[in-house]
Amino acid sequence: MNETVIAIDGPAGSGKSTVARAVAQKLGLAHLDTGAMYRSVALAALRKGVETTDADAMAKLAKKTHVYVGPDGVFVDGVDSTEAIRTEEVTKAVTAAASNPRVREVMVERQRTWITNNGGGVLEGRDIGTVVCPGATVKGYLVADAEVRAQRRAAEHGDAVANDMRRRDRADSTREASPLMRADDAVEIDTTNLSIDEVVDVVVGLVP
Ligand code: DC
Repeated sequence: MNETVIAIDGPAGSGKSTVARAVAQKLGLAHLDTGAMYRSVALAALRKGVETTDADAMAKLAKKTHVYVGPDGVFVDGVDSTEAIRTEEVTKAVTAAASNPRVREVMVERQRTWITNNGGGVLEGRDIGTVVCPGATVKGYLVADAEVRAQRRAAEHGDAVANDMRRRDRADSTREASPLMRADDAVEIDTTNLSIDEVVDVVVGLVP
């Protein structure tokens, strides 16, 4: 692989999104928020009345739902859903969607196509370094003290979302399908006491 792929994984509130976006901008690479893709499938299920725990129905829904995640927003079947995917309702529903192996299969394939189409890029998620792109040029695994992560979430999305973070972390880390995990060759970066710029510098410094 001669394209540059930067994988940023870690739990909610570890700073992934802000860091991934800034790294992409600094290096002139495209950026993909893969969490927004799982959120889009969960939103489509809520909109269409599909039970998120119905594995077959969710797999079909994932296949037929058109999801665009890009610099100009998130569009689900052509509808601007940039804000709608961040609601508490979607944040709850996304756990079942993301733990469905067949939904993941569809998303992982789209993520790999995205890498090919963009000639590399910065991808953030939970399984980028382990599953989506094990051969990534750079793998960063962001962690932060749980209290600090909850504070960051609360500042961004309010207390309810911050409280739900713990439940999601547990679900993401203990699920059977591609759980949140540090790849053996990923560099762990503790962002608890670092500024965004400092974390960005560490990641950029890892690029050969
Ligand atoms: O990054 P986020 O909080 O917006 O992600 C939403 C959910 O999707 C989260 O609970 C974990 C899941 N997710 C995943 O399983 N794999 C990814 N690559 C990205 C997100």
